[in-house]
Amino acid sequence: MEEGEEIMRDYKIDFPLLKNQDIVYLDNAATAQRPAAVLQAERDYYENYNANPLRGLYDLGESATRLYEEARERVRRFLGAEKTREIIFTRNATESINLVAYSYGLHFLKPGDEILVTIAEHHSNLLPWQMAAERTGASLVFLECEEDGSFSAESIRRAVTPQTRLAAICHVSNVLGQAAPVEEIASLVHERGGVVLLDAAQSAPHFPVNVQKLDIDFLVFSGHKLMSPMGIGVLYGRESLLKEMPPFLTGGEMIESVNRQDAVYAPLPHKFEAGTVNGGGAAGLKAALDYLEAVGFDEIQEREERLTRMAFEEMKRIPGVRILGSENHREHCGILSFTLEGVHPHDIASILNEDGVAVRAGHHCAQPLLAYLGVRSCARASISFYNTQEDIERFLESLCSVRRKMGFGR
Ligand code: ALA
Repeated sequence: MEEGEEIMRDYKIDFPLLKNQDIVYLDNAATAQRPAAVLQAERDYYENYNANPLRGLYDLGESATRLYEEARERVRRFLGAEKTREIIFTRNATESINLVAYSYGLHFLKPGDEILVTIAEHHSNLLPWQMAAERTGASLVFLECEEDGSFSAESIRRAVTPQTRLAAICHVSNVLGQAAPVEEIASLVHERGGVVLLDAAQSAPHFPVNVQKLDIDFLVFSGHKLMSPMGIGVLYGRESLLKEMPPFLTGGEMIESVNRQDAVYAPLPHKFEAGTVNGGGAAGLKAALDYLEAVGFDEIQEREERLTRMAFEEMKRIPGVRILGSENHREHCGILSFTLEGVHPHDIASILNEDGVAVRAGHHCAQPLLAYLGVRSCARASISFYNTQEDIERFLESLCSVRRKMGFGR
């Protein structure tokens, strides 16, 4: 080790899968791995507290409800929301966006209105708005990005119009890693009387996201990208908006009273949580947020930035590699999507896999963005703070071998 070089803490020891398997896991943008503390919290819920939350009036039922509501409060703190009733649990970010599209979109949008999305959306934050536009007669308007994924002030001013009623924006692109200028967009949309939904699926695992500082109306994220169990997600909504919105799904536990022909719905947040909720998932999500904040976003960002820089600089030297997006590694949020001349991305992923390196290849559920960038598909390495320098070295070594293995000579 060079003098002055720090030893990076080995976070992999906290993650059973990473500790027990010889894998270089670089598909963190698709889903993160879970630390033992999260697995234990979910198990603890089922071993010691399980009953149907929000229903049982016996001690066990009340413990289940308490844990579930504690998780909600933990999410409120994580997002800097004002009120706990502004936090709705869903299955994932996709369901949260659908909730807003079906409930707010179908109820409040009308012909002539504009729904603004960016060209960088993944399908989860596009298809619900295509549906809402088609059903309400509103039009879908695209905010185009520059080749590096950034948005110019001029293009934002052009895209936000007096007809913009709703802007649905990904905070960080799952392909380019570039963060959108949320505050600028939100302030223009608000000036024109519209509302803003922020898809924080790719940002919340990497840096603090505060709904009040960003001044946004809705925010969504998936727990599984934040190291919680799969099947739990979050919708934050401003209370004044959620109150006016009709339920998305109807059924048990989202009611105050039911008659033969109609029902009185429960107050927030339960109006939006029909059916049995994911108590174990909520307990796991709480533990994940505790773990994440114990590591600390300063540490997370520093490590991810260091590993991204290392991968980025070396990848640029590999013949035939083209990294999509910014020339500045700091603007990638740990996401390095790339092509290799003459080699299909599926072949890249498959050769890397032979060396124990997991990356995603394909269109990354963002076909309009890829078409806009003029590529049909690409490979993507996505980095988390628990990755190590050795992971990046193994990835680079394997990537260097791909063209040779495909018969290109080097
Ligand atoms: N949206 C996830 C990804 O980018 C699944 O891989």
